[in-house]
Amino acid sequence: MQPGHNGWKLVKPHGYLFSILKEEDGSGLKPMDAEQLREQAHKMVDFIADYYKTIENFPVLSQVEPGYLGKLLPDSAPTYPTTLEHVLNDVQHKILPGVTHWQSPNYFAYFPSNSSIAGFLGEMLSAGINIVGFSWITSPAATELESIVLDWLAKALFLPQDFLSNGKGGGVIQGTASEAVLVVLLAARDKILRTVGRSALPKLVTYASDHVHSSLLKACQIGGLDPELCRLLKTDSSTNFALSPDVLSEAISNDIASGLIPFFLCANVGTTSSTAVDPLPALAKVTKTNNIWLHVDAAYAGSACICPEYRHFIDGVEEADSFNMNAHKWFLTNFDCSLLWVKDRSALIQSLSTNPEFLKNKASEGNMVIDYKDWQIPLGRRFRSLKLWMVLRLYGLEGLRAHIRNHIALAASFEELVVQDARFKVVTPRTFSLVCFRLLPPPNSEDNGNKLNHDLLDLVNSTGSVFITHTVLSGEYILRLAVGAPLTEVRHVNAAWQILQEKATALLENL
Ligand SMILES: Cc1ncc(COP(=O)(O)O)c(C=O)c1O
Repeated sequence: MQPGHNGWKLVKPHGYLFSILKEEDGSGLKPMDAEQLREQAHKMVDFIADYYKTIENFPVLSQVEPGYLGKLLPDSAPTYPTTLEHVLNDVQHKILPGVTHWQSPNYFAYFPSNSSIAGFLGEMLSAGINIVGFSWITSPAATELESIVLDWLAKALFLPQDFLSNGKGGGVIQGTASEAVLVVLLAARDKILRTVGRSALPKLVTYASDHVHSSLLKACQIGGLDPELCRLLKTDSSTNFALSPDVLSEAISNDIASGLIPFFLCANVGTTSSTAVDPLPALAKVTKTNNIWLHVDAAYAGSACICPEYRHFIDGVEEADSFNMNAHKWFLTNFDCSLLWVKDRSALIQSLSTNPEFLKNKASEGNMVIDYKDWQIPLGRRFRSLKLWMVLRLYGLEGLRAHIRNHIALAASFEELVVQDARFKVVTPRTFSLVCFRLLPPPNSEDNGNKLNHDLLDLVNSTGSVFITHTVLSGEYILRLAVGAPLTEVRHVNAAWQILQEKATALLENL
């Protein structure tokens, strides 16, 4: 054996397996060893706990320039191992500066993506056990726990019986809401094509409001549907940016008159822009009459519907074919964990199942079990239900309700602050924990306020003390402040408002 670089050498102990032996500062880390795992994982947990303790010291929005990391890291992979201490030192000094801190209490951007102690422990356990649960046989507990927790949550949300796993429907954990809308779109596409013939694919029409998430368009592209026939129907402030059933009916009639085939509506409960809620009962009447698959995207706001006082926002879901909420947004469940329920699981399975010889087994062949590989795009799947189960058990529904209510109250207090400052305007009524607002342009200003608010956003975010984002509603540039990080308290909301006010004053003085 040749002595290696840094005093390392490769040794060929038995047969063909190489082991790497420690000489100087190598890690001495084996692929797996219970005691080493215990020791190293304790160090990692300490590192993560310290991260949370000091999270407010970091600029919430990373302030690095593009390409910063290439200047700090070598341009090829290390030949020899190093220690965890060295790696963590690099994480601290090279990686964390390039992190935008989604768990910071000063994070108010996009929508939240909660971590929690229970969610973290669930992820840790799932990573530790590290199974790949595509078929029931590959880990019966993974499949069965998934059906059980999704049934629990369906009941907590008062979803219709048809969405439970003991009937024709059931729930499944997808990675993201984008995957959820894709798989139901494919199921709906194939269902209609079985009736009208596969050659009708270019005639299929998809509907949604113009504030639907961009994942719908992506799903249409992947599904081979004509993107021109993805009708994003115009909304405005008269409906608080919710889709009007009349507008939908008219679009459907026009399309039918042109020989097209309406087949899918994606309704929103809580749009990304402004948390607009489409009127599900009225829309469902239209979809039912026209034999259209109704999918409800409640990616963010679905979590709030476990509170009795917010449940009415999904009234009408009884008529939906599928319903989706992201537990990884506002439900204390670490990314990723997107919950999808369908009424007719056979539609999903017909579109997504394959049955290669190498996966055949008695339980699957006997139709005795769920094989979740047939409800999703990839074959492999993580043990995500473990994480969700731990969140539900360690917080309970009441703990989760308190979490939601706390954020909604904080958002209401922020909204009140905005209302009290005549220079600002709340743009749409706040429904959940998102406040949409803007700084009003001074009278006779040439700018309609769009540049002003764009500049305000940049100024505020460049402080590193707060991170908010924007949207455009009816051509107006709007600021969005979404409360939802688990560590956020009223002092953080007040501090965010103070920064907004200070920067607004500075901007207005310099006009
Ligand atoms: C309403 C809505 N739908 C879908 C999505 C897409 O979510 P995901 O990142 O899980 O695909 C989002 C993301 O914020 C969203 O707000």
